[in-house]
Amino acid sequence: MRLTRRKFVQSVLGTSAALALPAVFSTCSGSSKAITGEAITAKPASAPMQFGASPDMAFPKGFFWGTATAAYQIEGAWNEDGKGESIWDRFAHTPGKIRNGDTGDVACDSYHRWREDIALMKAMHLNSYRFSISWPRIQPSGSGSNSKGIDYYSRLVDALLEAHIRPLVTLYHWDLPQALEDAGGWTSRDTASRFADYGSRVAQALGDRVSDWMIFNEPAAFVDLGHLEGRHAPGRKSLIDFLRATHVVNLAQAEGFRALKAARPASRVGTAFSMSASEPASDSAEDKLAAERAHAITNTWFLEPALRGRYPDALTFLPETAMKIRAGDMEKIRTPLDFIGINLYYRTIASAPGAMERAAHAQEWLFPVKMDGGQQGPKTDFGWEVWPKALYDMVMRITRDYDRPVIEITESGCSYNDGPDPAGVIHDGRRIEYHREYLAALRRSMAEGADVRGYHAWSLLDNFEWAEGFSQRFGLAYVDFKTQQRTMKDSGRWYAKVAAENRVGPGL
Ligand code: FCB
Repeated sequence: MRLTRRKFVQSVLGTSAALALPAVFSTCSGSSKAITGEAITAKPASAPMQFGASPDMAFPKGFFWGTATAAYQIEGAWNEDGKGESIWDRFAHTPGKIRNGDTGDVACDSYHRWREDIALMKAMHLNSYRFSISWPRIQPSGSGSNSKGIDYYSRLVDALLEAHIRPLVTLYHWDLPQALEDAGGWTSRDTASRFADYGSRVAQALGDRVSDWMIFNEPAAFVDLGHLEGRHAPGRKSLIDFLRATHVVNLAQAEGFRALKAARPASRVGTAFSMSASEPASDSAEDKLAAERAHAITNTWFLEPALRGRYPDALTFLPETAMKIRAGDMEKIRTPLDFIGINLYYRTIASAPGAMERAAHAQEWLFPVKMDGGQQGPKTDFGWEVWPKALYDMVMRITRDYDRPVIEITESGCSYNDGPDPAGVIHDGRRIEYHREYLAALRRSMAEGADVRGYHAWSLLDNFEWAEGFSQRFGLAYVDFKTQQRTMKDSGRWYAKVAAENRVGPGL
């Protein structure tokens, strides 16, 4: 089970780089067993706000209703038309890394079936599609340019525009060309320049039709999971690599931003950050401080450097030498993002470790925080707590702390593994309930001043869920991975009505 977005710094700084990761990481979010339909309708007794009760759930005119996907999770065609090997190809082809030995070699075969996917979105009345570009399709070994790769995305963009769907393009959703990993990957400063070169080529090729871009998807997640925990590609397990990759990715965010703007000055550029509202486990001063540290490392570790040119106060001191921060870097890193993308699924409960724990783990004085998932709300099949207030809290905090920036919800969603009934219908009422409640929470934050422009459900399709392979279904459309047949779920039909009426609430 992947829990890292709330767990990662506990692992980062609570363990030595040389030590194996503690087993507690896999136990923190409760069980991943399915909850019942009854469980989800029973509101947690202690939930402080009931969002769905508000009658006014209309969204502003022009609000973006979308879905989100990522290249490696849906495209397949892993070695077609000149595409190079990515770190995810290598990782998934390594025995033992992915549940059931699954790979993204074929995934949802969207490389060939993209027309069907656009038709699905059209049927859902969507006006935005967040997808990512596979770097090794454009630059098979990390440089140059593969015209067939560019052609694929060019056709996709044209067809989206024809369907009146805005392309919202992520440059990097975790699939680094393997050749660049071999040259040091995200721990090497050169990768930041390679990334800018890639971004500039993509902007030149598509920027006449695409105006909304995201530099990264969830930098906090891929830097941690891939470099410290080793549960994602490229599978490194090193504290030093984590710290170095942190800084290189922050540099790359700035260089990528400048490259996109240089190629297309009018484009709007942001990043999709993994966020999780952080709550103290108790009212004690220690737990409150722990919650602030958790917020800094989880939510703003890659945002504060961009907007304010500084690392937020996550640690008791900043290991600048280990991070290889050079003079002038913090000015270079400043990036006036045009919007903040928020990916949010759940909340984090933070507490200060006791003296005994601190003594047992030498590094905990550097990051004295324990992070856990909440336990009051119902759980998805992935074991993630359903907690709509987390979205409200997070959006309000970012709105307050960063002077009311433009926000897009770039991902939110839930894994429920409901399959077709004998008539072939997929009744996923729990997914409808999830999105309805999260959207109601979002609408409340907008009523209270947040400038939110869009919501992207993760995901359009059931797809390859990284280390979990095909075992977790997040889609609004069901995919039969044997036949590649797509079937809209009840949630897809419900989302279509929401998008068409531009509201949630009574009758929806
Ligand atoms: C997010 C990832 C996305 C998907 C969802 C479930 O962290 O950005 O690719 O795996 O989680």
